[in-house]
Amino acid sequence: MGGAKADEKELRRLLREAGVGPTLIAKLESAGLLSPRGLKFIVAATPDELVEWLSLSSYESAVKLREAAKSIVGYQSAAVDAAQLMELEERLPKLTTGVKGIDELLQGGLRPGELYEFAGEFGTGKTQLCHQLAVTVQLPEEKGGMAGKAVYIDTEGTFSPHRILAMAERFGLGRSALSAVTVYRPLNTGELERFVREELSGYLEDGAKLVVIDSVIALYRAQYRGMEWLARRQQAINYLLDWLKRWARIYSAVAVITNQVLTHPLPSGVALKLPAGGNIIAHASTHRFLMRKAGDAWLIECIDSPRIPKGASVQFKITEAGVEDA
Ligand code: GTP
Ligand code: MG
Repeated sequence: MGGAKADEKELRRLLREAGVGPTLIAKLESAGLLSPRGLKFIVAATPDELVEWLSLSSYESAVKLREAAKSIVGYQSAAVDAAQLMELEERLPKLTTGVKGIDELLQGGLRPGELYEFAGEFGTGKTQLCHQLAVTVQLPEEKGGMAGKAVYIDTEGTFSPHRILAMAERFGLGRSALSAVTVYRPLNTGELERFVREELSGYLEDGAKLVVIDSVIALYRAQYRGMEWLARRQQAINYLLDWLKRWARIYSAVAVITNQVLTHPLPSGVALKLPAGGNIIAHASTHRFLMRKAGDAWLIECIDSPRIPKGASVQFKITEAGVEDA
């Protein structure tokens, strides 16, 4: 009997113990959900989604199934006090950007389970920074990494293995750094949404600790044109980012999106540059940063975060070796 089959048998037993009936267990089996990854999918889904996707008889049975799956995969969502939360947060690794100044701005690095947004005009370093994170995530924890792999969703066709290799050399990693980065290039928003909801967790189960969507907005702006599509577009982005955040929390992975900026002319004649995507992306992101080119240097500024002061900023530079301290 193979390992997977043995796991399946054990999961059946655990589900039965947790009060899930044989009919439902059979349903899970035919849906391909009798695996650790499948149970995490059940945890990630809402009861309403489970009712629809598994044709369950009631909302209550979906809630019960989720609770059983949560106890089996050991996912904690119980309330904790702030002291416990602080202890928990201190134990989590923080992902280094490989740039001291930016790490300090981020108060030590990027935290798993949170969504970081880097917005800026073209050439402001968004893609370079994402490449660098796909390398630093592979470093061991004592070097600021998460000893993990990366999933890079490239909607603009700007991913470059050569840049990964150059950065990997700088951080003392070899060519193997390339095979630890999975690149996915969706053709449209449907493919992007399906990948994030249905395939991403396979890579997370396999050790990915960073998920990048570079950029989150490009496909939506191209596909949903005009005001009459705006509401539907916003709803679709909201749902995509919601799934991204569910997976980041369940798998303790860092989630990163890049975003374009739009110019809003003010009556005063000043043009205000704001990230695209409106309130939906603003609310979904845990931390938002605006990146700018300033002469020969680059600048990254916090525009919204529950921890980092708004307006805090630091300069950096981009060289052959990647993103570096100015
Ligand atoms: P868009 O995707 O167009 O919105 O821009 P972006 O913000 O993603 O810019 P990106 O990170 O791709 O590039 C920022 C800058 O990095 C470029 O303008 C170049 O100056 C620099 N850069 C990119 N690749 C290299 C490289 O291989 N060597 C060096 N020295 N600089 C590079
Ligand atoms: Mg880019």
